[in-house]
Amino acid sequence: MPKRKKGRQQSSGAPRERVRVLITGGRIQRRIMALAREIRKDFPGEPLHLVSVLKGGVFFLTDLARNIPGEVSFDFIAVSSYGQKTHSSGQVRLTRDLELTRDLDSSIEGKTVIVVEDILDTGMTLQYLLRLFQQRKPKHLRVAVLLDKPERRIAAVHADYVGFSIPNEFVVGYGLDYAERYRNLPYVGVLLLGPGLKKKPAED
Ligand code: IMP
Ligand code: MG
Repeated sequence: MPKRKKGRQQSSGAPRERVRVLITGGRIQRRIMALAREIRKDFPGEPLHLVSVLKGGVFFLTDLARNIPGEVSFDFIAVSSYGQKTHSSGQVRLTRDLELTRDLDSSIEGKTVIVVEDILDTGMTLQYLLRLFQQRKPKHLRVAVLLDKPERRIAAVHADYVGFSIPNEFVVGYGLDYAERYRNLPYVGVLLLGPGLKKKPAED
């Protein structure tokens, strides 16, 4: 029987894939604790409303929320731009809006809002969201991203709180997916594809 190479074998017919660890789960947790302290220091005693972008930002939001002392609430929004590909189409669409309590723009009005995103890549998603949220008159509007790929930026947006700045590589894990897979990894890793297990360029 032929020997299997560890980590390379996929179920029959599927392309070979492997994930090389870039940021361990431990480093992610330590960095999130520091970001949570920094956020609380910037807004002492204020109720904070975290808004996460589904689905990638979910683990970051839950870990961040648990580490911010004091009053914290959260909500979710969904946008679509990527589909099954590994690059942004540049078209951002809202697929799930915030929980709208009384009238259309009331849910974040007057609140200190932190948008929580998994990764800041071209910046198109954030630019769209920030414009939308700004119209709803929050008291403060800030952005927290776990990962930042500054080389890929197209839109002029910046994050107030950044977990890690990373090179221009396609990454998965800790909420980030490749065709909906790998979100459950507790770490962030670079996706390697194909028979030679080459890095998948982000703009591929
Ligand atoms: P942007 O609009 O180009 O900034 O893209 C932001 C969204 O693209 C993120 O919220 C992710 O869902 C997705 N994305 C960008 N880079 C990666 C990556 O390396 N791996 C997985 N998803 C990514
Ligand atoms: Mg996302």
